[in-house]
Formats: sequence, structure tokens, C-alpha cells
Amino acid sequence: MHKSGIYIHMPFCKVKCMYCDFYSVADKDEAMPIFFDSLIKEIKMCQIETENWTIDTIFIGGGTPSLMSPVQLESLIKELDINFDLSNVKEFTIEVNPGEAPKERLKSFKSLGVNRVSMGVQSLNKDLLKFLTRIHGKDEVFKTFEALRKVGFDNINCDLIFNIPSQTLKIWRHDLKQVLQLGPEHLSCYSLTVEKGTQLYNYVNSGTIQMPSNDNSSKLYSYTQSIMNDYGYEQYEISNWSKPKLECRHNLHYWEIEPCLAFGPSAHGFDGESRFSNISNLDQYIKKIELGEHPQVHKEKLSNKNYTNELIGFGLRISNGINLDKISEELKHSFEVLLEKNKNKWDKFIIREGNHLRLTEQGYAFADAVAIDLLL
Ligand SMILES: C[S@@+](CC[C@H](N)C(=O)[O-])C[C@H]1O[C@@H](n2cnc3c(N)ncnc32)[C@H](O)[C@@H]1O
Ligand code: SF4
Repeated sequence: MHKSGIYIHMPFCKVKCMYCDFYSVADKDEAMPIFFDSLIKEIKMCQIETENWTIDTIFIGGGTPSLMSPVQLESLIKELDINFDLSNVKEFTIEVNPGEAPKERLKSFKSLGVNRVSMGVQSLNKDLLKFLTRIHGKDEVFKTFEALRKVGFDNINCDLIFNIPSQTLKIWRHDLKQVLQLGPEHLSCYSLTVEKGTQLYNYVNSGTIQMPSNDNSSKLYSYTQSIMNDYGYEQYEISNWSKPKLECRHNLHYWEIEPCLAFGPSAHGFDGESRFSNISNLDQYIKKIELGEHPQVHKEKLSNKNYTNELIGFGLRISNGINLDKISEELKHSFEVLLEKNKNKWDKFIIREGNHLRLTEQGYAFADAVAIDLLL
């Protein structure tokens, strides 16, 4: 049986944040009902054999899934339940934006089976939130967090961003401490990346904005690792920390190269053999489904070599490490040769325990460089 998950992409946002390249549309709320009709039809169209899968996670990401109504969520869950075996689902996450998820709606989400919430806090600093073009302040973060606790959510993640221009260690420390005092079960701290097609990319390219130096970014990252440790969080991935046993199981499916169904515009999935993705355009997604066509625009079989490289690349970023048993016999030798060749360079950051090879916590900062040396 393959452990696996279901991802749903909800592509609506109130405004488009200047740094974000996830597919979403702003000011198109009127298209939400037709989007949900299309989503239900896409689920009905799914041809992937899941009999040998144990689906244990559902993740509704975005976009801003907290904008959906309980009625829409209910019909979505009903359709998933008709088409797939959901009896093993242990983790059901929904992404929520601060100030965009009223308490009553959260209560309904919970009663429909959602048991984990991921809130996009990003920062609590007024100037940085403004820079990031976020439409909430820190009060909305606290209010939404309190509402989540009040309605009974006991598994909450907060997303934070560091490496923002003009973000000093002092500001980051202050933000982190305030969030840690809320006591979320899980924290994701992402380094701000400059993605093509975003406003941030244009600003950086034209010289209007300068990104912080690597030194500054490393300082903030090591501070993050140490404070998380002090507060009892375990780092189980390069950007993710959780209280013991509360890792995000859904994301682990991606990092362990396990199958995942994916629905909605721009959604990416893996059927155990091929990676596939849907069209990244809401109007065309709706149109295709209206015409009875599948919205998938890309499908590619994962070769053994690419599968192994993914195992290595992702394995270096997670505390479980690379599961060497998953590397086929024909490629194991080449991997061992590369490992031996780079032994002296990375030895102090690599730990080999039985059939797993992983980086130390200090080693995470070099994960990309190690991957370059170890990829087949
Ligand atoms: C696609 S967003 C969806 C969550 C939700 N809509 C929100 O904004 O809070 C998921 C997360 O990706 C992260 N993210 C998006 N763009 C990023 C970037 N360019 N650099 C670093 N993190 C980014 C943010 O932390 C965000 O919370
Ligand atoms: S960061 Fe979240 S709210 Fe902002 S555009 Fe991306 S998905 Fe939408």
C-alpha cells in the first residue's frame, strides 16, 4: 500500500501579494461558484487507480481557501468521499489568511472534519507587512489564532517569512518570540525567494529593491534553529519545525516522493509513476471542464534516475534523510561512488544511520550545495 494524499488548489485571493508566484486571482470572487462546480467535475473525471493507496491526508491550499463557504467545502468533501476511500485520513489541513476567516466559518470547517489549520502570518512587523503588500496587521493574526483555539483547533501551523529587505535580526527575533508565545504546534519559516513573474522580481531586477546578503540570511536562519530548539520544536525539514509527532504528514508525502492526487488550477500531483499538473489559468480550467476535457496540461513519467535524484534532493532537506533502501540496485553503486568522492568535503555535516543518510542541523544550510555534489 502506498501512503498518499489529496491536494486541492483554491485559486482566489483578496489581493495578489508582491512576492507570491502561487497561482491565484484577485477580485474574481464572483467566479467561485462556477469554480466549485468545475472542481467537483474534475474529481469525477479522475482515472487514477487508488485501490492500493492509503490516503491519509487532505490539504486545501491556495490561494486563500479560508474564503470558501462551509457549503462549498461540504460539497467538495462529499465528492471526494464518493470517489476515494477517505477512511484512513488522519490529517485534513486548510490554509487560512489572518482576518479572512470568521470564527463561525472556522467552526463549520472543524465540524466538517478539518483538523489542522495553516495560517499565513508572514510577519508581525507593520512596515514589513506593508512591504510584502499583506492586507492584515498583527491584530488580525492574534484574533484569528484566538478564534482557531476557541473553536477547538489543536493543530495549528504559522507560516513566517525571513530574509525580507530591511528585516534585522532584532525584528525577526521579536516576531518569532511573539508567535512562539502563541504556542502553535507547527511553524514554517521560509526564506523570501525572488520568483520570476512577481512584482518583487521586477523590483529586484530593476535595482529598486536589494535583497539581503547571504550573511544576513544565514544569521537569521541559525537564530531560528536555536530559538525553535529552546521552545521544544523539532526541525524535521529545512524550513519546518513541529512539536513532537506533529509534523505535517501531507508535506512529508511530497518529500518522501509518495503519491498525491491534485485538483484545481495549477495543482501538481504524482500518481506513483508520473508527475502531472493542471492548467494555471482559472478561465481556461473552467472552460476545459465545461467542454468535458481534462484540465491536465503536463504529464511525465518519473525515470528511475530522476526519482532517485528527487529522493536525494528532498532527503537532504528532511530529518528522516535519504532512505537508501528506496534507491534501486543499479543506481546504488553510482550514489556510493559520489558519496565517497565528496566524503572529505561534507563529512562533518553527513550522518549515516543504518539505511538512512541525513544532514546534521548545521548541515541544512548547505543542503543545496551538498545536493549538487550528490545528485546522479
Ligand atoms: C501560497 S501561500 C498560501 C497561504 C495564504 N494564502 C497566505 O498568504 O497566507 C503559502 C505560503 O507560501 C509562502 N510563500 C509564498 N511565496 C513565497 C516566497 N516568494 N518566498 C518565501 N515564501 C513564500 C508564504 O509563507 C505563504 O504562507
Ligand atoms: S501569499 Fe497567499 S494571499 Fe498572498 S497572493 Fe499568495 S496565496 Fe494569495
